[in-house]
Amino acid sequence: MCAGTVASSAPEPFRAPLHPDALASFVDPLPIPAVLAQAATRPDPLRPGETLPYYRVAMRETEVRVHRDLPPTRMWGYEGAVPGPILEARRGRGLFVEWVNELPAAHFLPIDPSLHGAQADQPQVRAVVHVHGAKVPPESDGYPEDWYPPGRSKTSHYPNDQDAATLWYHDHAMGIERLNQYAGLFGPYFVRDAEEDALALPRGPYEIPVMLFDRLFGADGQLIYPSSGADLPWVSEVNGDATLVNGKLRPYLDVEPRRYRLRVINASNSRTYLLSFVSGAKPAPFQQIGSDQGLLPAPAALTSMMLAPAERADLIVDFGSLGGATVVLHNQTVELLQFRVANGPRVREAPLPSTLRRVARIPASAAAKTRMLTLSEHRDRTKRRMVMLLNDKHWHEPVTETPELDSVEIWSLMNLTEDVHPIHLHLVRFQVLDRQSFDTDKYMATGKLVLEGPPVSPEAGEMGWKDTVRAHPTFITRIIAKFEGYAGRYVWHCHVLEHAANEMMRPFEVVARSTP
Ligand code: C2O
Ligand code: CU
Ligand code: CU
Repeated sequence: MCAGTVASSAPEPFRAPLHPDALASFVDPLPIPAVLAQAATRPDPLRPGETLPYYRVAMRETEVRVHRDLPPTRMWGYEGAVPGPILEARRGRGLFVEWVNELPAAHFLPIDPSLHGAQADQPQVRAVVHVHGAKVPPESDGYPEDWYPPGRSKTSHYPNDQDAATLWYHDHAMGIERLNQYAGLFGPYFVRDAEEDALALPRGPYEIPVMLFDRLFGADGQLIYPSSGADLPWVSEVNGDATLVNGKLRPYLDVEPRRYRLRVINASNSRTYLLSFVSGAKPAPFQQIGSDQGLLPAPAALTSMMLAPAERADLIVDFGSLGGATVVLHNQTVELLQFRVANGPRVREAPLPSTLRRVARIPASAAAKTRMLTLSEHRDRTKRRMVMLLNDKHWHEPVTETPELDSVEIWSLMNLTEDVHPIHLHLVRFQVLDRQSFDTDKYMATGKLVLEGPPVSPEAGEMGWKDTVRAHPTFITRIIAKFEGYAGRYVWHCHVLEHAANEMMRPFEVVARSTP
């Protein structure tokens, strides 16, 4: 069980907390991240004689105004923005990004030197960028140990050989990823394609990126990252009482009486949201049209939906009959974002298509291998505290997951803990097969697997391609993936960043097929 998530501020200088509820609601307009402009072109490594767009993105310390009545907050952002600018990609057209580390030499959040990769002999500030959900060669994927210090940069090649989807980029530096992301190092990356264009979904001003991230603030308006004590500051989870939407606390957005497409990304360290829209006192129904790796087969009509860290939801909200009203996006009972619908009749527009994209189900029988992989927590004698493990292995142990290139595997994620773990695999997209309850006590005592009850089918919003899945406690969550694209070393991990930092991350290696 995850112990204390609350800061015991003992040896840290005491900072009075901010009470975000006391601030006025809906006084700041929702910021919309800018689309990043291409800086140059470079030769296409795959097609001689052709060129690809080249972008340059600098990580910089910055000041963000999260609320009208707060002083600016120190953060770190790509291009000095939190969230960073939108990277727009087309399927089949690659691009380059030079990620430049222009951060200061000292970190402003509490590093825990007992965590793997964050030892005192390492530079305090290290960064490496991963595009979450991108199918890329291993050298461009942002392997956690491929970090570099301030003053250096790295250029990655993104082939974009994948379906239109809501991807996002974020820091992944070993041992401090949770701090770098908490500081603000993330942004949206949209892949588009002709099939999606043909659906005539809301575009331009009617398509809104919505990045959610919760934070704790001091009364001085500065970020607080909780600490469990001076020598071992690691905490098992961080749940802030201020949820920012695109970097603002409870902003508003003026909308027309028509449909909008919201590209929702959970960029929080630990928090899972239960999202709903409320108009007056009534829930406003909405449709989910896509998840992590692109469009669903058909829109799913919902009144609420769960979104764990790193999961994405592509939503259509219809304000057409709500002229003059307000609609508020909620997390459970907490208000996040207000939509102010302009007066007037519904804007005439084409109906939402009833089918979106063919998603061929991979049959379980296609799998060459099934891996039983535990998610567990252990007391660690040397570290004097708990560690969280995948397949009972620490980060530094030899690779154990070695799928063959182009083979299909089932990964059965056996959650032995009391927490939900959003499990993410780099490189591949997968489908959720099912979830089935099992007797965890018996399994831990005897190693015997006793299933309980029938398998539960994935939710409607999980019927498309995914790259992050909620593994529920006492359940086996089965996913199926084809390990295609590239051979090489990648990672899989829990996307609760505090868990990933404390051993809940493992390498996996796609190996070239052995010739018979
Ligand atoms: Cu969102 Cu390993 O990544
Ligand atoms: Cu990823
Ligand atoms: Cu976890």
